[in-house]
Amino acid sequence: MTDTLSPAPGQCAAVDAIRAHFPALTRTHHGHPVAYFDGPGGTQVPRQVAEATADYLLHHNANTHWAYPTSQETDAAIERAREAYADFFNASPREVVFGQNMTTLTLHLGRALARGWAAGDEVIVTELDHHANSDTWRALTRDRGIVVRTVPMDPASGELQWDGLAAAFSPRTKLLAIGAASNALGTINDVAAASRLAHDAGALCFVDAVHFAAHELVDVQAMGCDFLACSPYKFYGPHLGVLWGRRALLDALDAPKLEPAPDQAPDRLETGTLSHEAIVGAGAAVDWLASLSPGATSRRAALAGTFGALHARGLAQVSRLWDGLRTVRGVTVYGPPPTRPRTSTLSFAMAAHASEVVARHCADRGLFVSNGDFYATTVVRRLGHAHDGLVRLGCAAYTTGDEVERVIAAVGELAR
Ligand SMILES: Cc1ncc(COP(=O)(O)O)c(C=O)c1O
Repeated sequence: MTDTLSPAPGQCAAVDAIRAHFPALTRTHHGHPVAYFDGPGGTQVPRQVAEATADYLLHHNANTHWAYPTSQETDAAIERAREAYADFFNASPREVVFGQNMTTLTLHLGRALARGWAAGDEVIVTELDHHANSDTWRALTRDRGIVVRTVPMDPASGELQWDGLAAAFSPRTKLLAIGAASNALGTINDVAAASRLAHDAGALCFVDAVHFAAHELVDVQAMGCDFLACSPYKFYGPHLGVLWGRRALLDALDAPKLEPAPDQAPDRLETGTLSHEAIVGAGAAVDWLASLSPGATSRRAALAGTFGALHARGLAQVSRLWDGLRTVRGVTVYGPPPTRPRTSTLSFAMAAHASEVVARHCADRGLFVSNGDFYATTVVRRLGHAHDGLVRLGCAAYTTGDEVERVIAAVGELAR
């Protein structure tokens, strides 16, 4: 692959050019350049995003809605970030809600929705999901008498059992809560098909796009969902959560709020004073992703160019990991093969070594990989690794083919 530092108009930056944006990539550990395979837990941050955050704190820091310049600049900066996420989601800025993280936003949404539901009403979740999605809705069982039905995954394929999903709806179903992609296995769900099933049954569809949004361009119109949440710290931004909801639904939600807080959406769902600096940084992350594909006719078109290129690279890297790791003695690789819809995140186990031993062995060689259950506890349990967990490798925009070879070699070394 030839890596030029300046992409031609209409093309996405090559990996060397992308890497130049990340000071963290100059780090070494035990004499090895660090390779960050921990993106599904949170990616590294480009200089542009950190600088936007610092600039806000150093020059524009204030609370909102007052009549002096720094407060007005804060209002404008938050509005710009909403516009960035409107482009990111293919939605309107008035449908973009900021919050502490996906979990907190989803718990808040759950409380609000359940105020309109009766005991015995039903929510569908899936085994493939991160517990930030499934447990949020399960909490309503205790609080509101909501019945939660769980759609099984197929451990062999790492995919959802779609006939089980279709069969889970009943006249009492109020909501389907589904992940767009599994943070443990990389499986991508057909969210558009899931939304159609939900709507046909008269239910709403909530999408957890935390893992998906780092790999594929979100399009809430094409997905046809009603709510969607993601976390910019998974795609080169600071620690923050973002919720999208259809405007009419956000306006109508009986969201817990303080009496003096604004009544209009999206502000009515944003409790207290938010992290303005993180919101600014999260907007800058969208702009950074768009800047990788210069010359596009709009920010959304630039994002499409970037995600298209990242998808192609990620697929090549996950294919190499899939093939390379499966030749290592004692390694079992989980999840869908690269020929199925998936992200560039892959998990595996080694027969003779605990996942933490593998992670430490890799870390000693400058390869930062995650291990455990990643809060996808049900997935890991269904694969028979509840006790020890899995090792997870995530390829991000800055991952190189050389790093992929290094991690395959390191795992191979441990098997010898
Ligand atoms: C798929 C998925 N959903 C939800 C979450 C929770 O996100 P947050 O940390 O923003 O609450 C994560 C975090 O790892 C995740 O990977």
